[in-house]
Amino acid sequence: MAESMKGLKRTHRCGELGAANIGETVTVMGWVQKTRNKGSIIFLDLRDRAGILQVIFEENECGTEIFEKAEKLRSEYVVAVVGKVTKREGAANDNLATGEIEVRATQLRILSEALTPPFPIEADSKTKEELRLKYRYLDLRRPDLQRNLILRSKIATTIRSFLSEEGFLEIETPILNKSTPEGARDYLVPSRVHPGCFYALPQSPQIFKQLLMCSGYDRYFQLAKCFRDEDLRADRQPEFTQVDIEMSFADVDDVIDATERMVARVCKEAIGLEVQLPIMRMTWDEAMNRFGSDKPDTRFGMELVNVSDVVKNCGFGVFTGALEAGGSVRGINVKGQAEMPRKKIDALVEFAKGYGAKGLAYLCVMPDGTYKSSFAKFMTEDELKALAAAMDAEAGDLLLFAADKLKTVWAVLGALRCELAKQLGLIDQDKFNFLWVTEFPEFEWSEEEERYVAMHHPFTMPMEEDLDKLESDPENVRTKAYDIVLNGVELGGGSVRIFQSDVQERMFRALGFTDEKAHEQFGFLLDAFKYGVPPHAGLAIGLDRFVMLLVKAESIREVIAFPKVKDASCLMTEAPDTVDEKQLKELYLQTVVPNSEE
Ligand code: AMO
Ligand code: AMP
Repeated sequence: MAESMKGLKRTHRCGELGAANIGETVTVMGWVQKTRNKGSIIFLDLRDRAGILQVIFEENECGTEIFEKAEKLRSEYVVAVVGKVTKREGAANDNLATGEIEVRATQLRILSEALTPPFPIEADSKTKEELRLKYRYLDLRRPDLQRNLILRSKIATTIRSFLSEEGFLEIETPILNKSTPEGARDYLVPSRVHPGCFYALPQSPQIFKQLLMCSGYDRYFQLAKCFRDEDLRADRQPEFTQVDIEMSFADVDDVIDATERMVARVCKEAIGLEVQLPIMRMTWDEAMNRFGSDKPDTRFGMELVNVSDVVKNCGFGVFTGALEAGGSVRGINVKGQAEMPRKKIDALVEFAKGYGAKGLAYLCVMPDGTYKSSFAKFMTEDELKALAAAMDAEAGDLLLFAADKLKTVWAVLGALRCELAKQLGLIDQDKFNFLWVTEFPEFEWSEEEERYVAMHHPFTMPMEEDLDKLESDPENVRTKAYDIVLNGVELGGGSVRIFQSDVQERMFRALGFTDEKAHEQFGFLLDAFKYGVPPHAGLAIGLDRFVMLLVKAESIREVIAFPKVKDASCLMTEAPDTVDEKQLKELYLQTVVPNSEE
């Protein structure tokens, strides 16, 4: 039977008590972590979000009725205890913040009984994630998740106060929208009032924040929920939170400066980390050529080396064939791994194929200076020597080469470098390497759609010197876009925006929009630009990713209270779900569900 709290008022959280409270009579409330019954004395570990507190019941102190009630306590019961804080009688427990003290109970009320939970409520859970997510409300009681969400709240507070101090206004933008083009699929919401019409949930507040600049709000921010129907990964959720900012009369340096000071403040306040400012900048071109990635992990080396010139006249057809087809041959030097077992090398080849490689050529420079290789037989000794020299190879090194279209070579070697660093333990887990990647290309060719698509989004300002290439040489238009990268993860990105309606119209045309289509979708933005628009720029940081990296979580799900799983469902609520026929009718909807064979 549950008792009431009547007449009791909590004075402290369990984990907040310490030696300073010795002698005080306190009232604490929380969950039973565990009890130990020693016959004449019962030990209770009481837990709340602040930590665990030891409570002692002794019959001659608390009376028989309370003692007998304490005997009935089970894990996860919710109780209230009144008692006196004393110095712990046994040895102090250094593992607990409250380890020097205990509370000697004089009153006990059972506020709620509990079923036995399906898994233990403890840190470093070994329980399968599916079960944890099904009972997320229990999982969220575990101290590691509580620590993550408490830190997340603190980070959000730090961000809000930093941005307010810097003159940013927090303004909300709508969730029910017209589609915003960030490149992912939209989540749609049918309209009851407008049969056959749909709202799109925002992929980001991009257009609204630009319009707020047109309206003179000067500096905007929002912790904005964004929705993207895309394939999920460890660092992606269908709904996630952006720290979204926009600034008027601002250029690249203004956004970078404000952002990196914000990031540094968060790191300092959240985990005591000093970030050296300014954060290093690297152009997209340099990032791709050195690391094969636009979000390079700079905690380790193993940089890409272009050996196209060295092998262009060699006898190995795979290399020369790729070059003749306009591709490239590049390699990485895996130091000291010449004697990697063949099986492991074969696994790397398979890994490379997953990134579009047709194969992966290897050259082991054995400790005795001889070569072991998948292609040595096609090359002269001098050619092999020249290749090894170009790769800075010493005896004992393993060289891996990809020959293909440059884009594929980058993707393959960029991924391989990270995979090998992980396998070989080359990554210093205590490092936080921030990096700005700048001057992204405006366009990227989409094989699927057979047209250029915007690499960032269609509102990104080309660099002045590349403006006249919009029509003639779109491939080589660089932009005033920038990404902030942390340990090889894209933390955030943004750009200076196009603010001239004629340039914006040229941009839409380059992306294959007809003028009609552009006006139909973005007419209000193009019109807004005709009524006095300040030059403006902005960026968005992925808040979930930021928290994930700061707490060194394996997955973004560990820093989101109620996340979804890979197929975008929620294991606890079982969303998405079917709805009543009546609801569908009201919305003028019919569903055509393919049967499982189709
Ligand atoms: P972008 O699309 O780069 O830019 O998104 C900004 C940041 O949001 C985070 N992010 C995600 N986090 C979790 N799950 C996802 N599915 C997901 N998708 C993106 C990333 C990313 O860097 N409107 C522009 C910003 C601007 O130009 O101002 C935008 O949305 O950390
Ligand atoms: P093959 O002549 O196809 O047997 O290939 C000889 C070696 O070159 C094998 O080790 C292949 O894995 C490798 N290889 C094949 N295609 C490529 C490529 N595009 N880039 C790098 N190595 C390749």
